[in-house]
Amino acid sequence: MKTLLFGKDGQLGREFIPSILACSELLAVGRNECDLSSSEKIQVLIEKFKPNLIINTSAYTAVDQAQSEPEIARLINAQAPTVMAKAAESVGAVLVHYSTDYVFDGLKKEPYEELDTCSPLSVYGSTKQLGEQGVKDYCARHLIFRTSWVFSAHGNNFLKTILKLAKTKEELKVISDQWGAPTSTALLVSATLAALKKNAVINEKHEPVIRADKQKQSWGLFNLTAGGETNWHEYAQYVISSAVQMGMGDKFVLQASKILSIPSREYPQLAPRPLNSRLNTKKACETFDIQLPDWREGVDQELAKIVNNKELDKN
Ligand SMILES: NC(=O)c1ccc[n+]([C@@H]2O[C@H](COP(=O)([O-])OP(=O)(O)OC[C@H]3O[C@@H](n4cnc5c(N)ncnc54)[C@H](OP(=O)(O)O)[C@@H]3O)[C@@H](O)[C@H]2O)c1
Repeated sequence: MKTLLFGKDGQLGREFIPSILACSELLAVGRNECDLSSSEKIQVLIEKFKPNLIINTSAYTAVDQAQSEPEIARLINAQAPTVMAKAAESVGAVLVHYSTDYVFDGLKKEPYEELDTCSPLSVYGSTKQLGEQGVKDYCARHLIFRTSWVFSAHGNNFLKTILKLAKTKEELKVISDQWGAPTSTALLVSATLAALKKNAVINEKHEPVIRADKQKQSWGLFNLTAGGETNWHEYAQYVISSAVQMGMGDKFVLQASKILSIPSREYPQLAPRPLNSRLNTKKACETFDIQLPDWREGVDQELAKIVNNKELDKN
């Protein structure tokens, strides 16, 4: 089995590499190997390598910057996955792609379901929505996972930012009226592999399955986040409290109680964010027989990695 991974240097891409190497010949590419603004490069790469499985973890994720670079965001978030979908279909590959809670405006009172109408507030959200559509339109065997607030021990994310700020700031103000579920890359990888197993793309030993029972396969779009919900303020407080419990306290001048809560209007950002980013994950759990642990579990796991790697001493 051959897997082509786009986005090898991103948070999620890096997390995938060891698990995919265990079950498949892997070609992992980043910006240097394949600039996704070129449709031709994507198409040639897929047609030459002829993967059985394509995992696209790459995206233009600079949400605020996208407001002033809409064309680049469109190329990476909309055009590139559409080209991948067409090429995947032509070589018979399964395409796994990731999308975002930011396809919604956040006005719904309940967690969003897969079929809820998209109404993105930002360029990032609208280009990601176009990317979803391209994948749906052109590749029959696709999995699109909509997720939220992604973090890991490596890469740039809110958890790492809070840890860094805690070294120098005695007080922080953090938004408390945007709700969602922080989701670790480790959870996204394990749930994706579970879905691929359930769809008989790989077996229990992570080996490729030659003759899959097509009746039992489920393709399409699925919400996929950690369990539970929180807001950025509560999340930040949890990160610092938990990090202190794990022995990182001597690195911080900030205490959890000095993280103050503010409304979004007091922290204007170039790209508006949805107030409700909560995604209902029932469909993914039932279809793929997965359980999605509470977001705090993922935070603790990534913090433990940061402690073990002495990551906090590096910056
Ligand atoms: N981060 C979040 O909070 C979040 C929330 C919801 C959904 N998602 C979705 O989850 C997926 C994974 O996100 P992530 O956090 O792992 O993203 P990430 O860490 O920002 O990684 C994205 C990768 O895409 C690559 N990329 C960007 N432009 C490129 C180009 N022109 N050519 C080639 N590669 C390019 C980047 O390359 P460089 O390293 O060279 O820049 C980077 O390695 C994405 O689909 C994202 O939209 C993320």
